[in-house]
Amino acid sequence: MKRLLWKGLWIQVIAVALSASPGLAQSKTTVLADADHRKALSLDGDWHYIVDPYDGGLYNFHREIRTDGFFLNGAPETGSSGLVEYDFGKSPTLKVPGDWNTQHDSLFYYEGLLWYERDFRYQPVAGHKTFLHIGAANYKSIAWVNGQEACRHEGGFTDFDCDVSASVHGGRNFVVVAVDNTRLADGVPTLNTDWWNYGGLTRDVSLIDVPAQYIDDYDLHLNRERTAIEGSVHVEGAAAGEEVTVSLPELNRSVSAKLGADGRAAISLPAAGVEWWTPEHPRLYNVRLQAASDRLDDEMGFRTIEVRGTDILLNGKPVFLRGISIHGEAPLRGGRANSDQDAATLLGWAKELGCNYVRLAHYPHDQRMTRMADRLGLMVWSEIPVYWAENFGDRAVLAKAEQQLQEEIRRDRDKASVVLWSIANETPLTPERTAFLKTLAGDVHGLDPTRLVTAALLVRTEGHDKYVDDPLGAALDVIGMNEYIGWYEQLPQDADTTVWHIGYQKPLIVSEFGGDAKAGLHGKPTQRWTEEYQASIFQHQLPMLAKIPQFRGLTPWILVDFRSPMRQLPGVQDGYNRKGLISNHGEKKEAFFILQKTYREWANDGVSSVVPVQPVTGTNERTRAPAPAQKKVARPGE
Ligand code: GCU
Repeated sequence: MKRLLWKGLWIQVIAVALSASPGLAQSKTTVLADADHRKALSLDGDWHYIVDPYDGGLYNFHREIRTDGFFLNGAPETGSSGLVEYDFGKSPTLKVPGDWNTQHDSLFYYEGLLWYERDFRYQPVAGHKTFLHIGAANYKSIAWVNGQEACRHEGGFTDFDCDVSASVHGGRNFVVVAVDNTRLADGVPTLNTDWWNYGGLTRDVSLIDVPAQYIDDYDLHLNRERTAIEGSVHVEGAAAGEEVTVSLPELNRSVSAKLGADGRAAISLPAAGVEWWTPEHPRLYNVRLQAASDRLDDEMGFRTIEVRGTDILLNGKPVFLRGISIHGEAPLRGGRANSDQDAATLLGWAKELGCNYVRLAHYPHDQRMTRMADRLGLMVWSEIPVYWAENFGDRAVLAKAEQQLQEEIRRDRDKASVVLWSIANETPLTPERTAFLKTLAGDVHGLDPTRLVTAALLVRTEGHDKYVDDPLGAALDVIGMNEYIGWYEQLPQDADTTVWHIGYQKPLIVSEFGGDAKAGLHGKPTQRWTEEYQASIFQHQLPMLAKIPQFRGLTPWILVDFRSPMRQLPGVQDGYNRKGLISNHGEKKEAFFILQKTYREWANDGVSSVVPVQPVTGTNERTRAPAPAQKKVARPGE
């Protein structure tokens, strides 16, 4: 009887998709550092797909994992013995990289399991290892090569690598990836997000060849004193005592060190003559890492970032972060961003706005964005999607967040542009949540003591008094806060009489403020949804913020209108969050030019020189003569 009962329970447990199946625990994936500079066979292109809302390709009618599932890539014609009721070869295709939602109307709202398959020709190098590299698969995925399971992964926005050395062979091979973007209460992110739940293999997929002993992780950074490039290099599979060499060929400088028992060698290279990376001078160096049988080249900048009191110091000097928030959505064409062109357009607009900094919200973006930020000179706030009401009491959820943090830091620790790791956005004030996030803050400091930890906190309001006193602030290096005076609360002009009480003598970044406007919709500045109303929010917010003593940066919400399932106002939102300064068709709204003008002034004369509020006249006047500057208040970087 007990057995049957157990079986009964078993069936219930697995009655939901790929995502919650205990039989399908996460299996070994890693993140190869600098994977985008590795020799690789790209698997991007057209992949066959099968939509499988009932997960029939994975489970039998008793919800037990099939042994003859779609991962075998069976085909009826081949006369294989079993009854095969699918055929990838005859199935339609999807582009990889790419979300499935914007490729076929029938998949626009699809949330569930979808199978990908493609063939590839490959010749493994004898004695080498082969990794299947997946730039991102939203949300949960299992990969098989030639019918053999390679790995399973949870998390839709971080790269991962699976060792497929045992499965690949010379000649024709095939890879099958099952991806399920079902939203989960215990997922990271959880059930509701103000962004579209794009599913699929949303970033590059490739096969990476590495020697048997290979460099898989390293940390090279300018030390606090800016006298040396320090850190360590890890060589997987190498013996203690073997040597690694790190060199900067342009400076004709190199250092060698021996690996310890843990396969890691400590590195220290004199930094004399190294030009420090700054937004104004984003100097990158070719960095070569050489181990016994492996060599890796990276493109890196060197700078220090730290906090002193309420100042953020870049290379020891106070800096003000003029930024904008950005979602990982492709400009103009929509869907997930994943190309150099997407990165160039988005970050190009940020530069045009006068930014020296961007917030990549609310999840790690495609590596092309952080590489481009390195080159264009934009400091980066990078974030894991611990967003709104996560299941903070669940240790498994903490483990998922920690895994995403490790993967994010492992991939982007070589990016000079990345200066802030954000661990959360707008999370509720509960003891479990604060404990959960304090753990994550500690993890960041443990994983990467060279950067700053932050989070986007909510603000407590009492009338016109606003308090930033979230207990989590104590664990952060930099306080981020989101406030929506003039949109979700009060009117734009209420910013003029708002009194801020910042509970921490730490740098404050206003990580979000703003309001929706439909591009081309004009009217009185008191009329919501018009460009003038959005502009009015900015005109009242900027002077207000400039008066906050701890104010050291901002990333208004948001650069471009983006898709959200939560925005349904017909004729205005139509499935888009319209808080962009630029529409999804590339139209710049009034507020774009107001912020651009302010950033130009702040860059030239410092934060306090903003012009006083001027009534918006409803016409797109961009040539308004600036009012005389207000009394100058000392600010960092001035
Ligand atoms: C929140 C949230 C964003 C959201 C924005 C909005 O602050 O962090 O993800 O899009 O507000 O409501 O527009």
